[in-house]
Amino acid sequence: MSIEHDVRSLDMAPGGRLRIEWAENDMPVLRQIRERFAKEKPLQGIRMAACLHVTTETANLVHTLQVGGADVVLTASNPLSTQDDVAASLVANYEIPVFAIKGEDNKTYYDHLQRALDHQPHITMDDGADLVSELHKNRTELIDGVIGGTEETTTGVIRLRAMAADGALRFPVVAVNDSDTKHMFDNRYGTGQSTIDGIIRATNLLIAGRTVVVGGYGWCSRGIAMRARGLGANVIVTEVDPLKALEAVMDGYRVMPMIEAAPIGDVFVTSTGDINVVDRHHFEVMKNGAVVCNSGHFNVELNIPALASMAVEEPRRVRPFVDQYIMPDGRRLHILGEGRLINLAAAEGHPASVMDMSFANQALAAEYMVKHHDELQNNVYRVPEDVDKEIARLKLEAMGVNIDVLTDEQLAYLNQWQEGT
Ligand SMILES: NC(=O)c1ccc[n+]([C@@H]2O[C@H](COP(=O)([O-])OP(=O)(O)OC[C@H]3O[C@@H](n4cnc5c(N)ncnc54)[C@H](O)[C@@H]3O)[C@@H](O)[C@H]2O)c1
Repeated sequence: MSIEHDVRSLDMAPGGRLRIEWAENDMPVLRQIRERFAKEKPLQGIRMAACLHVTTETANLVHTLQVGGADVVLTASNPLSTQDDVAASLVANYEIPVFAIKGEDNKTYYDHLQRALDHQPHITMDDGADLVSELHKNRTELIDGVIGGTEETTTGVIRLRAMAADGALRFPVVAVNDSDTKHMFDNRYGTGQSTIDGIIRATNLLIAGRTVVVGGYGWCSRGIAMRARGLGANVIVTEVDPLKALEAVMDGYRVMPMIEAAPIGDVFVTSTGDINVVDRHHFEVMKNGAVVCNSGHFNVELNIPALASMAVEEPRRVRPFVDQYIMPDGRRLHILGEGRLINLAAAEGHPASVMDMSFANQALAAEYMVKHHDELQNNVYRVPEDVDKEIARLKLEAMGVNIDVLTDEQLAYLNQWQEGT
């Protein structure tokens, strides 16, 4: 095998291939883009490094980029999110270099990032801004060759905006997360469903009748709260933004500070992009048996080092993805997926139907970057609004849903100011 790689085992490729094809069935918008890319080759001659969760849906994206002419390599954007069969199939069946092994340690994770950067990308495609960050911190010799990047998630966009504000960002980046066809669907319905899926797969807990505490009421956490309630949980929301908290109250949830929720929650799940949302003083008052997890980008939302220091012994892995910490008073607290994105650690991430839109945005953002990088500053940009709307139109079409079209009379009415009551 001449394709560069570091994956668990190429023997896993056949199973991965079947699952990649299964996801493809539910990605009609990306398929249409792939068909056009096959004819037009908009990414011809472009080297790309993608740092994304290595899932069946991502496989369909990187294959689309390849069909569009890109010379693309893939590395994981999280040590626990890789699907090893998919990584194997990308190498063996699609001839795409992949550096990703589920459960890799931090050193291997960063070594893999370096190997992706060794590809000398013209375009970076990030989920959490790790490639951009590495380029700016440790691989500055490669920056002049980069024409731009794309970014998938909220936390990555926040990091990139901070870099741009500091004048530190040295190439333009398209914030895919800012597209309506991304965050309104992927973050809400994707994270909502797959996070609950991850909790259930890890624990096999009955959700009905339990008190589920959701940290945050943003796009992701709103989806998690909605789906937990759908399964019969009593949902409590914690927030720091009064507007979001008010929205949660009016959506019918109990809202209170985490310290008040801590002693009454059975299951805790955060998705805020913030640090130590569940901290030492919360663990101190939690019930015996509490289950705590995170579905935000980084594993900093739960203060696991504090919990480890409170525990009387090393945590016991009582089930895959469930670590049990025993407190001095005998309470047993459980952390799922080492505090990493639970939907990707213990389940399969978002369903393909929703990633269809996110990755349509990614593919079109890469094409946009090739065409327009000369006109862009070293800043963070949205996917153009007409592209965003077109993705929604294509998705509706694929779902067989028709909508009304403005008549000329309605168009004229909506664009005038003279007519009133
Ligand atoms: N699990 C996944 O697959 C997945 C998918 C998309 C995004 N994400 C990640 O999830 C996180 C949230 O993304 P989002 O799009 O929902 O962001 P968002 O900005 O829409 O929502 C975050 C919310 O958390 C609130 N918050 C911040 N600090 C808090 C605290 N200490 N306590 C309570 N609430 C707090 C904010 O006020 C905000 O309402 C990010 O890290 C993002 O990268 C994960």
